[in-house]
Amino acid sequence: MKNIIITGGAGYIGSHCVISLVNNGYIPIILDNFSNSHLAVIKKLEKITKKKIIFYKVDLRDKSKMKSIFNKHSCYSVIHCAGLKSVPESIKMPISYLDNNIQSTLSLLKCMEEKKIFKLIFSSSATVYNSKQSLPFKENSNIGKTVNPYGNSKYIIERILNDVAQSDRRWKIGIARYFNPIGNHHSGLIRESPKSISTNLLPYIVKVAKKKLPYLKVYGKNYNTRDGTCIRDYIHVMDIANGHIAILKNYMRIHGIEIYNFGSGKGFTVLEIIRLFEKETGIHIPIKFANRRKGDAPVSFCSPSKALRQLSWRPIYSLEQAMIDI
Ligand code: WQD
Repeated sequence: MKNIIITGGAGYIGSHCVISLVNNGYIPIILDNFSNSHLAVIKKLEKITKKKIIFYKVDLRDKSKMKSIFNKHSCYSVIHCAGLKSVPESIKMPISYLDNNIQSTLSLLKCMEEKKIFKLIFSSSATVYNSKQSLPFKENSNIGKTVNPYGNSKYIIERILNDVAQSDRRWKIGIARYFNPIGNHHSGLIRESPKSISTNLLPYIVKVAKKKLPYLKVYGKNYNTRDGTCIRDYIHVMDIANGHIAILKNYMRIHGIEIYNFGSGKGFTVLEIIRLFEKETGIHIPIKFANRRKGDAPVSFCSPSKALRQLSWRPIYSLEQAMIDI
């Protein structure tokens, strides 16, 4: 059984990766500072997986604690999900976002290099793609014109990983570019519940559905799309989690660095998502149109063909399933 250290393993993506790791015979070791996640997730993961989950409350920038953890556990690979991820919050607090996301990554890389662990999967994002280019986004589409500190941090870390991979042939780095993760594990025991506010569409739809908000604000209705609202590539979080397993099982294909899009390959507008949620749940979602949101790209969806071809990975959960797994 191979140990996999997963940073941010108590977070939304990380906790779902933990389930996939156990389901595929790996031993996850969670490193999380719980600054934007809850300790209670560990017990829920143990209930779902029926396994004792090893975890450490640690800030990745705490070099001495990180060293002691890496000395204690042999490790086949690291999955690096830890990072602050709210776009609006990053605009308000750029220094702490860039410090947290970039310094944590550098500290982790130093630990890995010292322990001669050269297999890494990095949690990146569709945000790194330049929005003004032909669609669908492919892994070799243009990147770099990121428009907020969150996106900048993801782009800068990708550049750092490129430098690292070129410095030593032993590195095998998979970059997983997530499109829009939605849904939760079917148990309903774990879900996206950041300590900071989640500004994403589905958590807001759920708040309206639970009557915690009177209506949903729809940001912009005059985009050049089929109904005037933005288009995104929504994908079930368990499909994204399984994408990490697919990379783990295909490291022999990775020489240096390989990038993979994890998306459905289909785009849906905001209004289409709202209507689908209403259809699947029977719950009406009142809306009010608001001004466009700063930084929003009109359209974003990917071609997942590289992951399909090289990793034999494909999304298996439907959008309808994601609406029910809210
Ligand atoms: C989707 C669409 C909004 C809320 C960001 C990050 C990305 C990833 C996912 C971390 C947009 C509209 C939203 C609302 C709305 N983050 N919307 N009313 O911005 O595509 O992606 O989150 O992994 O890296 O960039 O996702 O869900 O915030 O927005 O109309 O109350 O829904 O304008 O068009 P986004 P989102």
